[in-house]
Amino acid sequence: MKLTVNGEPHDVSVPDDMPLLWVLRDELKITGVKYGCGIAQCGACTVHIDGQAVRSCQVAISDVQGEITTIEGLRTPDSLHVVQEAWIEKQVAQCGYCQSGQIMQAAALLDVNPAPSDAQIDAVMSGNLCRCGTYPRIRDAIKSASAKLEG
Ligand code: FES
Ligand code: FES
Repeated sequence: MKLTVNGEPHDVSVPDDMPLLWVLRDELKITGVKYGCGIAQCGACTVHIDGQAVRSCQVAISDVQGEITTIEGLRTPDSLHVVQEAWIEKQVAQCGYCQSGQIMQAAALLDVNPAPSDAQIDAVMSGNLCRCGTYPRIRDAIKSASAKLEG
């Protein structure tokens, strides 16, 4: 099966029903994407397919259509993504386990809505759990990134 991840083509030989999460982690050794629950309940496995945030634990590799981006490919060669910069500025991460999924979800949100309200942020981010309770800093960082995008 052929797929493009972070701009690079790959050819993998895996069962059709293998979740994208495991293809990324176990076959391609792209480990920024995390396993949290495996049942679409935590968001730790969030990646982009053609810019849309998806739960990679729920997408069979044979159903993938489009280019995959993981946290490793979110930045450009020259600079971090504005969301990554905001995450550093606000020192969002605690243990860090959920954070690649949080960042990918936030980046997808700002891509379609560069100036989300608090309610819109909460609605979109509510499926990304953080056992360390970094939610206030996540919202601050999204607002900071939004301000930069707007400015
Ligand atoms: S591991 Fe995919 S949503 Fe939790
Ligand atoms: S920073 Fe620890 S789970 Fe979110």
